[in-house]
Amino acid sequence: MKLKDKVVLVTGASSGIGMGFALRAAKDGATVLLAARRLEKLEEVKEKVEELGGKAEVFQTDVTKIDDVRNLFLDATKDGRQIDVVFNNAGIGFVGNIYELPADEIEKVLDVNVKGMIMVAKFATEVMVRQNFGHIIFCSSLAGLITMPQWSVYVASKWAITGFADSIRSELKKFNVKITTLHPGAVLTEFFDPTKADIDISKMGKALTVDEVAEEVYKATFTDKRRIVIPGSSQTFSNVYRFFPGLAEKMINNMVKEVEYTDRSEEDEPEFSYVKQGEVE
Ligand SMILES: NC(=O)c1ccc[n+]([C@@H]2O[C@H](COP(=O)([O-])OP(=O)(O)OC[C@H]3O[C@@H](n4cnc5c(N)ncnc54)[C@H](OP(=O)(O)O)[C@@H]3O)[C@@H](O)[C@H]2O)c1
Repeated sequence: MKLKDKVVLVTGASSGIGMGFALRAAKDGATVLLAARRLEKLEEVKEKVEELGGKAEVFQTDVTKIDDVRNLFLDATKDGRQIDVVFNNAGIGFVGNIYELPADEIEKVLDVNVKGMIMVAKFATEVMVRQNFGHIIFCSSLAGLITMPQWSVYVASKWAITGFADSIRSELKKFNVKITTLHPGAVLTEFFDPTKADIDISKMGKALTVDEVAEEVYKATFTDKRRIVIPGSSQTFSNVYRFFPGLAEKMINNMVKEVEYTDRSEEDEPEFSYVKQGEVE
């Protein structure tokens, strides 16, 4: 019961990995502070926490809005409450060839996965530096250590977080604030449906369950590890990428299914569309 009486704040707690970790921490006796946009889903997670005998509070938050993130930390630390762990997890993905991706979708991914995560970390560190303790666990991805065709923007967002987290890790050591990045391969959540995925999952090894990932995040809370790469096959793969990027690229290309693209060679000029075709600007 290592998280007993600790306070754990989770972003993206309304589903998937965030919800899984919130329940795992609650089972261990933590008070969990649940943040995301969908209030009804957060209330459902809160009910589940209470069924486990735990305590939860709900904070409707859009991490892309700086005021929302600031209010989240203001409200969470009311009456001098301290925060032991922040699981900085809210994230989205978008797949496609870069020249066909709608610019507004690219912006959304960067807003949530980069700006959102950095803002959550910024306010979390303000709390933790004052306390002189704390742990921020960033949900990056295997995609934060390797590259993948058709996932370029998502990959960019996750590499950004890997670099950001490593940078503040050194900065915050003297304040007793720990920083960890989590790098899961495929996980079965709303985000990743293997029946619709553009990746041939059978070539990647098995997809993780939310409970498996939640357990790793839980274990991470009482270590000071820089990185957690799961499953073992992802660890091996990220090592291959690091030392033999050409070989790794060939292996990745073999896994990623070809996405259909439009033949634009006959077009007079590029469209430079900001939103999806057919949508009103
Ligand atoms: N599933 C995978 O294969 C996989 C693999 C590696 C890494 N990851 C990472 O794991 C993290 C969690 O994803 P998941 O797989 O658990 O998917 P998920 O079930 O879709 O969860 C995503 C969570 O992020 C929240 N979110 C999205 N936009 C938000 C915003 N603007 N403000 C606040 N919250 C927001 C969602 O809540 P609301 O919609 O209610 O706001 C939801 O709770 C992401 O960072 C993802 O990149 C996933």
